[in-house]
Amino acid sequence: MSHLDNIPSTPGKFKMEKSAYIHRVRWQSSITKLTFWSLIILGSILIFFYRSPSSSPLSSDPSRRSLSTYDWGGPSWEKRVRSSARVRSRNGISVLVTGAAGFVGTHVSVALKRRGDGVLGLDNFNNYYDQSLKRDRQALLERTGVFVVEGDINDSALLKKLFEVVPFTHVMHLAAQAGVRYAMENPSSYVHSNIAGLVSLLEVCKSANPQPAIVWASSSSVYGLNTKVPFSEQDRTDEPASLYAATKKGGEEIAHSYNHIYGLSLTGLRFFTVYGPWGRPDMAYFFFTRDILKGKSIPIFEAADHGTVARDFTYIDDIVKGCLASLDTAEKSTGSGGKKKGPAQLRVFNLGNTSPVPVSDLVSILEKLLKVKAKRNIMKLPRNGDVQFTHANISLAQRELGYKPTTDLPTGLKKFVRWYMNYYSQGKKADA
Ligand SMILES: NC(=O)c1ccc[n+]([C@@H]2O[C@H](COP(=O)([O-])OP(=O)(O)OC[C@H]3O[C@@H](n4cnc5c(N)ncnc54)[C@H](O)[C@@H]3O)[C@@H](O)[C@H]2O)c1
Repeated sequence: MSHLDNIPSTPGKFKMEKSAYIHRVRWQSSITKLTFWSLIILGSILIFFYRSPSSSPLSSDPSRRSLSTYDWGGPSWEKRVRSSARVRSRNGISVLVTGAAGFVGTHVSVALKRRGDGVLGLDNFNNYYDQSLKRDRQALLERTGVFVVEGDINDSALLKKLFEVVPFTHVMHLAAQAGVRYAMENPSSYVHSNIAGLVSLLEVCKSANPQPAIVWASSSSVYGLNTKVPFSEQDRTDEPASLYAATKKGGEEIAHSYNHIYGLSLTGLRFFTVYGPWGRPDMAYFFFTRDILKGKSIPIFEAADHGTVARDFTYIDDIVKGCLASLDTAEKSTGSGGKKKGPAQLRVFNLGNTSPVPVSDLVSILEKLLKVKAKRNIMKLPRNGDVQFTHANISLAQRELGYKPTTDLPTGLKKFVRWYMNYYSQGKKADA
């Protein structure tokens, strides 16, 4: 006979033995506890997803670096946003700068603010490289009057809110996953920021009323394996040598479609190896400086048959001038509320220096400035994203933007080294 056979069909009349009763009370209390904790866990999961910065399926990707939840909103937050974006000069523009705590973003934001434009920064402060450098740039921006909202460009609720609070006339879109080699370690971070993030931003821009004009950073890396130099905007760009390059090329095509369908004014800037104070620790000129000072050997790549690897190094101040000129010459978007009203401007410019320098010469300049001999480790150029040379034809930018780079590599590196020595003499560690 099974124990279930003892239980009568009318439970209220059944008098349970004491041990069975205690057993049942304990069982019921366990069920209550289980239900309670299940509700707590379920609630926490719901809150997490509700507050998650990204609505993209990639947002749950654990390989992506440092995407957490951000706090934004509320009257005092909105007040800071408004005040930062307030235009203070006649004919000034109000610009949302994405990637504002990044290298180029910081310089562009300061330059805009100084001439009286309204500037609001947005950055997710990810840990692709030393976050304290990004925080120090943020502090610099705060001192200049630029508020940097902490958030991800995939967070469309945040972007919509920003456009509700400020009718930005322009967006300077610099947020991206940069670097070519890191793509082998974390490919989805490139898709997240450079593809999904760009679409998320353009979606909000196309629905904004008025639609802003957008200037954004593509890259010289779109020229990929091209051998005809100097690289010109009319050249083919269908042989990217890295996932980074492929996402920038993809970005240019996405820009084309949003311009075509929604009338968004879009200008893509192909930057050529930008360097300077507050630069990026993952770039060669930066970590060469660190490693030469530490007495560590530095890898200098050469191509097949001892071919020279050269870069068209472009000083940050020249890039900033090109960015501001692009914003100033950008025509208005033609759509409104997600509807196109007529054809809109679509441009792509090379922003380079037009004088490629072999990487070994870069090292010689650094040796002189640092007064330390480098330990050079000559290596074959790996086939993991880097190309042998870059060289910009800038005649289009010269003609349309009045772009004219004025800083040569020795002059620019001198300024970088001065900043580096000063910054890292304050007890900070120069780890990438
Ligand atoms: N520096 C160069 O030599 C160079 C060359 C070609 C193109 N570019 C492009 O120029 C732009 C700026 O480059 P940089 O050198 O200043 O790089 P950076 O890494 O210093 O700046 C990018 C900033 O964007 C932020 N960011 C990244 N993903 C984000 C996201 N999903 N949401 C919000 N913020 C995000 C990062 O935290 C970072 O502060 C990038 O688009 C880069 O691809 C740079």
